[in-house]
Amino acid sequence: HYKIEQDLRRSILINAALCVAGFFLTQRMIPVASRYVSKRGLFGFDINKKGTPQGDVKVPESLGIVVGIVFLVLAILFQYFNFTSDSNWLVEYNAALASICFMILLGFVDDVLDVPWRVKLVLPSIAALPLLMAYAGHTTIIIPKPLVSYVGQEVLDLGWVYKLYMGLLAVFCTNSINIHAGLNGLEVGQTVVIASAIVIHNLMQIGASSDPEYKQAHAFSIYLVQPLLATSLALLSYNWYPSSVFVGDTYTYFAGMTMAVVGILGHYSETLLIFFLPQVLNFLLSLPQLSGYVKCPRHRLPRFNPETGLLTGTRDGTLINFYLRIVGPKSEKSLCIHLLFVQALGCCFCFMLRYFLAGWYK
Ligand code: UD1
Ligand code: MG
Repeated sequence: HYKIEQDLRRSILINAALCVAGFFLTQRMIPVASRYVSKRGLFGFDINKKGTPQGDVKVPESLGIVVGIVFLVLAILFQYFNFTSDSNWLVEYNAALASICFMILLGFVDDVLDVPWRVKLVLPSIAALPLLMAYAGHTTIIIPKPLVSYVGQEVLDLGWVYKLYMGLLAVFCTNSINIHAGLNGLEVGQTVVIASAIVIHNLMQIGASSDPEYKQAHAFSIYLVQPLLATSLALLSYNWYPSSVFVGDTYTYFAGMTMAVVGILGHYSETLLIFFLPQVLNFLLSLPQLSGYVKCPRHRLPRFNPETGLLTGTRDGTLINFYLRIVGPKSEKSLCIHLLFVQALGCCFCFMLRYFLAGWYK
């Protein structure tokens, strides 16, 4: 038992060291890739700076492709340094990587071809297939104690419904990050906050449990989330206000899929959904426009006033607009910081909730 503990610690530390290298590599590669994507016409204009000189600058788009590639290289190399697990682990790990890789491909296709909105929505369910087909883990859920007497048993086997749920989770995580966007730094910023919360959650679970299987499942999450965090931080240094690169749907889909995958394989998807609370809220606010009930424009952003440099909320159904209408006009940078703070508060709320509800399980 002590040996497992030591091996896990060693694997996690080696993973962290690889991530430091990954951070610097990503930071070096982004300016190089920026030149190439711009040359091929992959750039966008910064909408929230329209009417100022900065608004006329062509900003390289889809730099998520660099993050995705460095992430995959780190995750593939790391297998060599996993000391504790069996071949079962390798099957799921590689299926997860196949799904993430497939998602990066489809995200990049979307950036290049600009596929219609409805098609975009289903891309993640295609990318999730490798994981869903290879998944051999349990398909049961634990019933909270107060509900056991109603359900009649302590665990419930959901069978194929569980796989359907996994697919839907992938669709939700990817799209919900992609539509909580449009401010410099917000797409990457929210990912950095959630990924940090995931790392903390996993470390806490490893520390609290004595079950090697359980520790292994959470270590597995760390092996994938640390590289996501490191490479995203490098991207954030360019995407932070004022952005010198845009991340593209390549990044939002990749980040969402990676977090969905670790939530599924680490068996904590309910916790993950609470980390995604602002995204859930944004999704609910967006439903009328997403369902086509109300007209959905190409961009659902606040109105920018070039004279004052402030953003004002519009009637489009997004959390950004909703928040602006509560707190009043804000600059793009401070609005982004506010929203990331809200995201972090949500994560703290989740940790508290888990702490108080701990008695409901096990
Ligand atoms: C999603 C949102 C859309 C939002 C867009 C911004 C829905 C249904 N779709 O669309 O409302 O406007 O993201 O990313 O909610 N851009 C900026 N500043 C930024 C980031 C992006 O001006 O900080 C602009 C640039 O012109 C960039 C473009 O948005 O080229 C990228 O948009 P894209 O990610 O392709 O939009 P969607 O994901 O389709
Ligand atoms: Mg997008």
